Amino acid sequence: MRAAGIQLALLLIAAGCSPGAHSAGRSTAELIADSGFHDGPHFPVGWKYRPREPAAVAPAAMVASSAPLATDAGVEVLRAGGNAIDAAVAVGFALAVAYPEAGNIGGGGYMLIRLADGRTAAIDYREIAPAAAFRDMYVDSTGALTTASVSGRAASGIPGAVAGMAQVLARYGSMPLARVIEPALRLARDGFIVDSVLAASIAEKRPLITRFAGGPTFFPGGMSLRRGSRLVQPELAATLEAIAQQGVGGFYRGRVPQLVAKEAERDCPTSVTPHWRASHGCGVITAEDFARYRPAWRTPLRTTYRGFTIYSMPPSSSGGVTVGEALNILEGFPSLAPYGTADYFHLAASAFQRAFIDRNALLGDPDFVRIPTDRLLSKRYAAERRRTILSDRATPTAALTAVQREGTETTPFSVVDAKGNAVSATTTLNSLYGSGVYVRGAGFFLNNEMDDFTSQPGIPNQFGLIQGASNAIAPGKRMLSAMAPTIVLDPAGRTFLLIGGRGGPRIITSVAQVILNVIDHRMTLADAMSAPRIHHQALPDTIRYEAGGIEPTELAKLRAMGYALGSQEKIGAQVAAIRRVRAGYEGMTDPRGDGKAAGY
Ligand code: DON
Repeated sequence: MRAAGIQLALLLIAAGCSPGAHSAGRSTAELIADSGFHDGPHFPVGWKYRPREPAAVAPAAMVASSAPLATDAGVEVLRAGGNAIDAAVAVGFALAVAYPEAGNIGGGGYMLIRLADGRTAAIDYREIAPAAAFRDMYVDSTGALTTASVSGRAASGIPGAVAGMAQVLARYGSMPLARVIEPALRLARDGFIVDSVLAASIAEKRPLITRFAGGPTFFPGGMSLRRGSRLVQPELAATLEAIAQQGVGGFYRGRVPQLVAKEAERDCPTSVTPHWRASHGCGVITAEDFARYRPAWRTPLRTTYRGFTIYSMPPSSSGGVTVGEALNILEGFPSLAPYGTADYFHLAASAFQRAFIDRNALLGDPDFVRIPTDRLLSKRYAAERRRTILSDRATPTAALTAVQREGTETTPFSVVDAKGNAVSATTTLNSLYGSGVYVRGAGFFLNNEMDDFTSQPGIPNQFGLIQGASNAIAPGKRMLSAMAPTIVLDPAGRTFLLIGGRGGPRIITSVAQVILNVIDHRMTLADAMSAPRIHHQALPDTIRYEAGGIEPTELAKLRAMGYALGSQEKIGAQVAAIRRVRAGYEGMTDPRGDGKAAGY
């Protein structure tokens, strides 16, 4: 069975806190007044998250991330005089220690920046496929897809997190790497007290963690780490120390790549072909792959929505293009039906469905395939797509096709600093604890990002995504992501909202829905995050909704429109967001998760 994924994003604009954690003197009423929304949204009776909860509010700066200790690391660096980029990198490293299920140095991600002077930048530090990777590496001799892209030694791309964070710090930070790594190093070397959330997460993944080498660290003496116990990670501390002292060379050359290559080869025969190795779960990563890894600077993707400007992540992530296309389709409706109605969910689902059809067919690593980004984000194309939406009927995915190609072709976090520099980042190992492979001696988990490629046309990956040839495996190629670190400017051009999420393709629909909730439904940030979500990714041709999140009458109407419907407990469990308000910034992490926003 394919594992559920997990992702983490960091939004850096100022500092924030989780629901109820801080409200820094601002009443809910004031916040609602700020948003122009007075009555609170209509959530179904019995919906598990209450409307009108307070967000964290702070006058100068805010950090929102999936792990309280990582948020604290960001605030520490801001208070010590660091800018939003310094703080974001500190959060990224701290997540690798305090949030091992998704925070990482063995994975990758994306960071989007808007400086106080209006300049924007985006860095892509997504993993890349090893040199020995090839298109059918997860197909066995009978033609069947194996699970080797999901767990085990063959599932990993070359990690990009350390290179990406070091490069962004060198270009836009103000502090040395050794200073921003300090909080993470302290957490790894001295340990920290395990809370109930981390204890439960580790216990739940016991079979995966102990199948490889994570047992001694996460199950000392064979026992589960309990809430209140101290987790010390000396091997990880040594790796962080090497990065602090030597920079990227401390991770990409010498000891760490050698340990990774050794882990890849463990228990595997040497005189076999790469195909045999990959389809039998043996790793193909080498030390040379590490030496070759480079992050890529990208031009942030820009579109507009009802007078707001949306900056988001371009390919190799599909996040920005797909969020942007869906919003452009919806923009053509002068107003959307009220939140919670079947008519609203019909329009939102129809826009997501169409944007995902294009995503799944056309997007991939821009260094390998030509992507018609301008066309996909044009208002004219959105109008064509919008014309295929019927007012009262679902359109089967099979009846829609992707735009023609022209020529050939997951933990979020955010920070805003006191000067107004803003960072939204998302990083991931893909599934919880990635491939499960823990690098002995180096103290970190390797990702299972190879599963984000199209392993076999027509066959869904662990997120049920059926993707195209654009995203086929090739050596040195980045696998298509759905991560969508996004920064929204208000019509006056001021930073308005920083947002990112986790949950594979649900990142796209969660980020888009929070934006719609704030802009169209005029919800407070807290309500926009708590509101029940839906998801449509074209295939399977189904609206997913959160159990208890749609009134039975509206569900019946959707069914009558011809939709297949399926409920699940949560959609997009870890959105993190920061919003500018009159008094400064409010920060909020998803009530579905356990992050924290805090600021000053
Ligand atoms: O890059 C992606 O789209 C996925 N690897 C993200 C994974 C994720 O969000 C896991 N979340 N539950």
